[in-house]
Amino acid sequence: EKAGYRHFMLKEIFEQPQAILNTFRGRLDPETGKVQLPEIGLNAVELKKISRISLVACGTSWHAALVAKYWLEKWVGIPVEVDIASEFRYRRLLLDETVMVVPISQSGETADTLAGLRLAKKMGAKVIAICNVLGSTITREAHGTIYTHAGPEIGVASTKAFTCQLTALLLLTLFLGEVRKTMSAKNRKAIGHALLELPALMEQELPRLQEETARIAEAFTHSRDFLYLGRGSNFPIALEGALKLKEISYIHAEGYAAGELKHGPIALIDRDMPVLALAPKDSVYEKVISNVEEVKARNGRIILVANAGDKNCRRIAEQVITVPLCHEELNPILFVVPLQLLAYEIANLRGCDVDQPRNLAKSVTVE
Ligand code: M6R
Repeated sequence: EKAGYRHFMLKEIFEQPQAILNTFRGRLDPETGKVQLPEIGLNAVELKKISRISLVACGTSWHAALVAKYWLEKWVGIPVEVDIASEFRYRRLLLDETVMVVPISQSGETADTLAGLRLAKKMGAKVIAICNVLGSTITREAHGTIYTHAGPEIGVASTKAFTCQLTALLLLTLFLGEVRKTMSAKNRKAIGHALLELPALMEQELPRLQEETARIAEAFTHSRDFLYLGRGSNFPIALEGALKLKEISYIHAEGYAAGELKHGPIALIDRDMPVLALAPKDSVYEKVISNVEEVKARNGRIILVANAGDKNCRRIAEQVITVPLCHEELNPILFVVPLQLLAYEIANLRGCDVDQPRNLAKSVTVE
C-alpha cells in the first residue's frame, strides 16, 4: 500500500504532481485560464456582493489560508482575514451575509474548524469549505465545498493535502478575479497556464530534490533548533517548513517573516541555529537576500532555497537547494516541496517514526 516507498509521507510527497492535477482537472480551461466552480453555489450577483473573505483553519491548513490571503487580496481586491480556528471561535466575530467564510480542512473533522463553521453559519455568512474528505462533517454542514482531490492522506504530516489546498485556493482566486472583473484575461491566462504545467515540472524535479535534501540533511541531523525565513506569499511556507520539521523530527523550529529578523530572533543566530531562507526570484527577492546577509554577518549557517541560476546564493549560503523558475504566484506550491523532503530526510536520519510522530493524531476531533 506504500507502493514501494518507505513511508506514506514520502509516497504522498511524490504523489503531489498527480494530486495537484486532479485538483484542477475539469475546473481550469487550458486555453483561457477560466475556472469553473459550480460547487460554490452562488450566482454572479451574490459573488459580487461579497465584502470580505474570512479563512478559518488549523495547522498546515492555516498556512494554506495565509498564502491565499496574498493571492486573493492581490488579484480580487477583497479584504481577507485569516484565523486560526481555535481563536476564531472564541472572539467577537463581525460577520454577516456579505462575508464569505472559508473553512479549510484536509479531514473535514477538525473540531475547532467545524465549530467556526457553525458560528459563521449562524451569523448568516456564506460558508464555502475547502476539504479533502468526501462526505466529512465539514462538507455536510457548509453551503458548498470545493474538494481538493488529493486522495487519501495517511501520513500524519500533511503534504499533498497542503499543495492541493493551495491549488484549490488559487483556482478560487482565478474564479473570483474573473467574476468580479478584477483580473485581466492576460494575467489569468498566465497563471492558469503555469498551473497546468506545474505537475510535469514538479514530477521532473522531485527525484533531484530528494537527493539534494538527503545530502543536506546529513549536515543538520543533530541540530536542535532551526529558523525558517520567507517573505510575502513564501512567509507562510517558512511557517509550514518549520512545522514539518517540528512534527516529524522533534527539532525545535520557528518560521519568521524575514523582515522580522532584526526585531528579535537575530539575537539567536550562532553556529547552532541554522537558518533556512526561501529566496525565489520574486518582487521581494532583494529584501530576502539582504536579510540573509544579516545572518551571514553574524556567522550563521545558511541554507538557501532559490531559483536555478541564482548567482547570489553560492556566495552567501553554506547549502543551496535550487527550484526551477516558474510564475511567481506558484512559488509557494513549488518551494514547499524541498522543505517537506528536508524534514522527511532529517527525521529519518534521526530514526523518528515519520508516519506516526509522537503525541499527534491525523485528525484532531476534540478541542
Ligand atoms: O484535517 P485538517 O486540515 O483540519 O487538520 C488541521 C491540522 O490538524 C493539520 O494540518 C496538522 O497541523 C498536520 N499534522 C500538519 O502536518
